[in-house]
Amino acid sequence: MGLPVTDAPALELCYMGERVLRSGAKRVARVDSEVRQLCRDMFQAMYAAEGIGLAAVQVGITKQIIVVDIGAREDGFAPLALINPVIKKSTPDLVVGQEGCLSIPNVYLDVRRPAGVEVSYKDELGRPCNLKASGLLARVIQHEIDHLNGILFVDRVENTLALTQELAAHRFSLEDVRPLVSAA
Ligand code: CO
Repeated sequence: MGLPVTDAPALELCYMGERVLRSGAKRVARVDSEVRQLCRDMFQAMYAAEGIGLAAVQVGITKQIIVVDIGAREDGFAPLALINPVIKKSTPDLVVGQEGCLSIPNVYLDVRRPAGVEVSYKDELGRPCNLKASGLLARVIQHEIDHLNGILFVDRVENTLALTQELAAHRFSLEDVRPLVSAA
C-alpha cells in the first residue's frame, strides 16, 4: 500500500471512440454544492492535462457544464465555469483556427467557426450571466458547447486529407468522426 496521491485528478478523461462523447448532456436543474465540487474537479482535470477548456462529458458526466481558462495564452483572463451555456448569437463572419482536444490528444486541425459569440449561462453560484466573446475565447466556448451536443471538433474539419493523416498519425479511427461539413 502506498500513500494516497492527493494531487491526482478525481476525474478521468474520456477519449474519442468512447460513447459518452457522443451522448450529449442534460441541463443542470440546480446549481448546488455538488455542481460546484464538480466544477473544481473539472478545473483540476483540465489543468492536469494542460488544457484550456473541458466539458463534463469529457470526464464521463452528461451534464451541461464547461470550464475554460485561457490565462496561459491571454493575460488577465479569469477562469470561467459555464453551466447550461447557450449560444444566443453568432457573428456572420467565420474564421479558421487550429484546434485540439483533450479527448483526441496530439491531434491539431483547422476548424472554421463564427469569429464571435454571445453566450448565456449560469455561474457557479447559479447566477444568470451573459458573455460576449471573440478570438480564442469564442473558439474555446464553441468547441466546449459542441461537446455538450455530442459533437467533436474533428466533425467540423473541412480538409479531409489532413484529417485522415492526422488521425492515423495518432492512432485514432476515422470511423469515429461524424462529419458535419461536406468534403472540401
Ligand atoms: Co474538446
